[in-house]
Amino acid sequence: MDFRNQTALITGAAVGIGRAAALKFAQNGADVIVSDINEEKLNAVIEELKAYPVRVKGFVCNVCDEARIHEVIRESIACFGKIDILVNNAALWRCWSSFVETPVDEWKKFMDVNIMGTVYFTKAVLPGMIENKYGRIINIASVAGVYGNANMVHYSATKGAVIAMTKALAKEVAKDGVTVNSVSPGSVSPSENGDPNYSQPSELSFMGRTGTDMENAGLICYLASEEAAYISGQNIQIDGCRKKQ
Ligand SMILES: NC(=O)c1ccc[n+]([C@@H]2O[C@H](COP(=O)([O-])OP(=O)(O)OC[C@H]3O[C@@H](n4cnc5c(N)ncnc54)[C@H](O)[C@@H]3O)[C@@H](O)[C@H]2O)c1
Repeated sequence: MDFRNQTALITGAAVGIGRAAALKFAQNGADVIVSDINEEKLNAVIEELKAYPVRVKGFVCNVCDEARIHEVIRESIACFGKIDILVNNAALWRCWSSFVETPVDEWKKFMDVNIMGTVYFTKAVLPGMIENKYGRIINIASVAGVYGNANMVHYSATKGAVIAMTKALAKEVAKDGVTVNSVSPGSVSPSENGDPNYSQPSELSFMGRTGTDMENAGLICYLASEEAAYISGQNIQIDGCRKKQ
């Protein structure tokens, strides 16, 4: 994979899959824009990215703040000229409560971050991609959006929406040289662990282990690459052959 002369923007890039994707894009020559709501951890990733001979810019940005997102995109275009790759990764997912016990406000919060965050960033970036006749959008969904997870009904619903949005939007922009795909991780090693290659035993997959942040980053980068030019409108699960719940 060669991303030289390309710019990749990753949301929620301070930890976990987003951080690993930022590192992998940089390792493969992309200029990288990282954004996150967590300033301290974002700054740590920006420092890490300095190890690579690419340009890096970081923005503290809440994906629910549409005005701020437009500012981020304006500044990014001013700096890099274009955005070739958008990875909508920021999300809320750590929640375990029954449908009956989940307050409506919690539903709204999850819909705002997981669905509208993806909508706002895509709306801000896509017109430039269409104009350039080139773009790669990768939305990070979840197996929860495919199978549905008990006690994560609201989360599952938001990820199902992201998958449907991916498929529908891909059809609209296929003629414009823009591909839109989603990646649905199964269980991933805890992002609190700084090692992007860390895996631990898991009964949820036939492989008997969690996926690593870097394995997810590999799929994200592949979908963003030239090699994946003919893949669009797909939701690709990366789950170690999941035991469907
Ligand atoms: N980790 C898993 O097991 C797993 C499984 C399936 C899907 N996913 C999906 O993968 C993606 C990454 O998950 P992860 O576990 O690697 O990371 P994570 O959940 O630990 O971190 C997500 C990042 O998003 C940021 N973020 C949260 N809300 C934000 C907001 N409003 N604005 C901007 N940034 C915000 C956080 O600060 C954090 O840096 C998510 O979309 C998640 O739903 C993860």
